Amino acid sequence: AVPSLASSDGFLQCLQQKIPGELVLTQSSNNFTAVLVSSIRNAKFFTNATVRPLCIVTPIDASHVQAAVLCGRAEGVRLRVRSGGHDYEGLSYRSVRGGEVFAVIDLAGMRAVSVSLGDATAWVDSGATLGELYYTVAKSNPNLAFPAGVCPTIGVGGHLSGGGISMMMRKYGLSIDNILDAKIVNANGELVDRAAMGEDLFWAIRGGGGESFGIVVSWKIRLVQVPSTVTVFIIGRTVDQGAVDIVTRWQDVAPSLPSELTIRVILQGPQATFQSLYLGSCAALLPTMSSLFPELGMTSADCREMSWLQSAALIQFWNPNTPVEELLNRRTSLQGSSKGKSDYVERAIPNGVWKNIFPWFTMNGAGMAILEPQGGFVGSVPAAATPYPHRSGTLYNVQYIAFWSGDNTAVAANQWIRDLYAFMEPYVSKNPRAAYVNYRDLDLGENAVAANDVSSFDSGKVWGRRYFAGNFDRLAAVKAAVDPTDYFRNEQSIPPLI
Ligand code: FDA
Repeated sequence: AVPSLASSDGFLQCLQQKIPGELVLTQSSNNFTAVLVSSIRNAKFFTNATVRPLCIVTPIDASHVQAAVLCGRAEGVRLRVRSGGHDYEGLSYRSVRGGEVFAVIDLAGMRAVSVSLGDATAWVDSGATLGELYYTVAKSNPNLAFPAGVCPTIGVGGHLSGGGISMMMRKYGLSIDNILDAKIVNANGELVDRAAMGEDLFWAIRGGGGESFGIVVSWKIRLVQVPSTVTVFIIGRTVDQGAVDIVTRWQDVAPSLPSELTIRVILQGPQATFQSLYLGSCAALLPTMSSLFPELGMTSADCREMSWLQSAALIQFWNPNTPVEELLNRRTSLQGSSKGKSDYVERAIPNGVWKNIFPWFTMNGAGMAILEPQGGFVGSVPAAATPYPHRSGTLYNVQYIAFWSGDNTAVAANQWIRDLYAFMEPYVSKNPRAAYVNYRDLDLGENAVAANDVSSFDSGKVWGRRYFAGNFDRLAAVKAAVDPTDYFRNEQSIPPLI
């Protein structure tokens, strides 16, 4: 049932009694809009028509999160939790369904990173960004790092909830393969760690997608070893320079390279850009490249040796002069809008098909695609070990991104990504066609809420089996055990299997 305004008042009164007033921003507060937009990445989710929260709660302590859950449950107000705000469908701060009264728990104020050098672990709060995590870890010890995504403004909370594809996953696995413990506020408002939550819930929160199970306030992660010097190369090849043949070859090579070497591909315009991170020196990389991937024509002139932290900045900003401190910048921009979709490729796409794929990137409305190779450690983890099932047998992940600014280019960009996605269907994973939950895509389906006010399992499995394959049913069983009344929910949360 949609909560009445009376229950909204009750919610705010309840919060007032439990947490400092300045941490609760109602729509009439002076800085409500500034805080709401502070981590919105996608301008299309900040319009007059966007359904906004009743209020934003900005906790600085786990007890504030607990209070919000207790008040929300008592007064019938749902919560949407936001860490870095990078959700591709904006579900951490907007509702697709009009008429839903909800509050946003914005965790940006809870972002401590506490490194334990002795056992190479860290506790990181969900509101930290990946950039803050990388910077703090590397400043503690430049030979330690964490395998997680490329964009430094991504929030730890959402990212670790959904997987964590990175330039080091072939060596060290996904982010979720390196989580040792977590503290979550559950649907009863209790703060529980791994021992108290139990192994089923601990399994589910490492990859089962954000929002469904509670609010994770903090994660204990295993840090990984990186050498003092790593090598980056960024090589562009146009179609005229043989990009079609090189990408065709890349599909066989990239997933089976030594796990210290990751080469991802960005397709944009008539060009393929090969971005690479090698956990070692240029001198060690050159013979590997000339024996395993001579088609790329990489030479010592392409090598850039640097610290791992500098590589994180370079791969994001594409500019060797960008200082590593820029990784700490949480600022996001509301200038552009985008739409993302994803695929997994299990069998190399034939050369003749690639000849037809490249022209898509020079069409009207064209955006880009990013191909991220798997294999190595990420492919060796059993499919049921975490909710992320795309392991052995997956060659690479594809992410399609359409972008635009202003209404006049929106139609062409959205048409482009829909048409390209349809074109790709014969060449990607099937039954079902798989997708990556951290590249959330509401085109895959949305939950229907049944008469008992619980998201229906049948509506959820339509999109859920694409993200989670056989793990979806176990996620839904965990949901039924920990949140049977479906308090934590959004348009694509795990429904309870009752
Ligand atoms: P946000 O705060 O929007 O949350 C995402 C979802 O998780 C929402 O449903 C939210 O409610 C929930 N959630 C957030 N915090 C939670 C918490 N503490 N407890 C429970 N649920 C919580 N991915 C990747 O694997 N590799 C990559 O390299 C990239 N690169 C990339 C670049 C850019 C520019 C974008 C916009 C996105 C990516 N991503 C990515 C995808 C990214 O991993 C994904 O969007 C994450 O969910 C974002 O996490 P945030 O905390 O920023 O999002």
